[in-house]
Order: sequence, then structure tokens, then C-alpha cells
Amino acid sequence: MKVVEVKHPLVRHKLGLMRAADISTKRFRELATEVGSLLTYEATADLELEQKTIDGWNGDVTVDQIKGKKVTVVPILRAGLGMMDGVLEHMPSARVSVVGIYRDEDTLEAIPYFEKIVHSIDERLAIVVDPMLATGGSMIATLDLLVAKGCKHIKVLVLVAAPEGLKALEEAHPNIELYTASIDERLDEKGYIVPGLGDAGDKIFGTK
Ligand code: PRP
Ligand code: URA
Repeated sequence: MKVVEVKHPLVRHKLGLMRAADISTKRFRELATEVGSLLTYEATADLELEQKTIDGWNGDVTVDQIKGKKVTVVPILRAGLGMMDGVLEHMPSARVSVVGIYRDEDTLEAIPYFEKIVHSIDERLAIVVDPMLATGGSMIATLDLLVAKGCKHIKVLVLVAAPEGLKALEEAHPNIELYTASIDERLDEKGYIVPGLGDAGDKIFGTK
């Protein structure tokens, strides 16, 4: 599995702001979108280009365009919605596949409750977004579903990843790429990432 911890100063700064205990819902939401956007920029740096000749202002001109690859963004409900606009900002025509999974707070087991995957998933690059990779259970369940539907090319964007989740994901899906703003220290006894961001879904939606 290719793991990229994006060290860009803007990413480091914005993620740092998100760690403040007293951050508002508005600010957390804005920053989740902004860091999601910056991770998208990094994760798409290797997309293949092809040349095309178009009718320019001064006659024919040869331009670059992204080759053939269709994209689907896959937010994992709920918290993944907080990063989705950051991806769509760069790829406004991308189709969206939604996967609903919550983590049982006692057992930490990932419980799927919704899925709506776009057609031709076998021909698309899937960009899966979720702010937190903790045990990895929710992400693994999502990727299992995408692979079962025929998806062959997957990039994962998470704001914060725990080493435990990275290890589990590597074992389950060694062929994917993951981009994160930070690999944090560890999980606590309740399965929360330390230092982490707290409950990202609650912070994005203003619940609790
Ligand atoms: C959070 C987070 C991930 C999951 C990570 O979602 O957004 O989906 O937990 O934990 P894991 O790696 O141990 O599976 P949560 O279950 O809190 O649901 P929510 O997005 O609806 O708040
Ligand atoms: N889900 C979150 O929102 N935060 C964590 O630290 C772990 C799981």
C-alpha cells in the first residue's frame, strides 16, 4: 500500500487549527473541506494526460487533458461528507457513490447501513473520503464493497490516520493508495485517535 503523509505547510497549519478543543462547527467544517481539497491536489498529481488539438483563439492549439479516467468520489457517511466538496472543487463532474457505515461505540465494529454506488464502477477511479482512519474497520468495509462491485483503482483520503488503522488496511487492501494530513500516535482505549480530532462527525454536523 502506498501511504503519503502530506507535509505541505498549508496542510500542517490547517490540520493544527482543527485540533483546537474550542473550534466552532463552522470553522471545523470549512477546514475539513480545505484540507480535503489539498489532499485531492496531491492525490491526483499522477493522473495521466493526453494531448488534444482544439480550435484556439489563433487557430489550432494542442492542449493537455486528463486521459479517459472517470472518477467517482465515495464519501463514507456521515463524516466523509465533510471532505466531499474539497474533492468536487477540482473535479466538479465526478459522480458520487455514497456508503453509510457507523462504528459501534462499544465493539468498534463497522456497521454498514446504506450504499448507492454509481454505474461502471469497474471503469472508474474511486476517491474514498473519510476524515478518520482509526481501527480501519469502516474503511476496510467500504473498500470490500467497492472491490466486490468491480472497482479496480482506489485512492483513499483521510485527514488523520492511526498506525493501527494503516496496518489493518495494508493487510486487507495492499494495492490502494492513501493520502493523509497526519499519521498520529495511537488509538486510546475507546478507539479514538490520539492526539486526533475527537469525533469528526459530531464536529462537522454540530451534534453532541
Ligand atoms: C467515524 C469516522 C470513520 C470511523 C473511523 O465515523 O468518520 O468512519 O469512525 O473509525 P474506524 O476506523 O475504527 O472504523 P462514525 O462511526 O463516528 O460515524 P459518523 O461519520 O456518522 O459520525
Ligand atoms: N472516529 C472519529 O470521529 N474520531 C476518532 O478518533 C475515531 C473514530
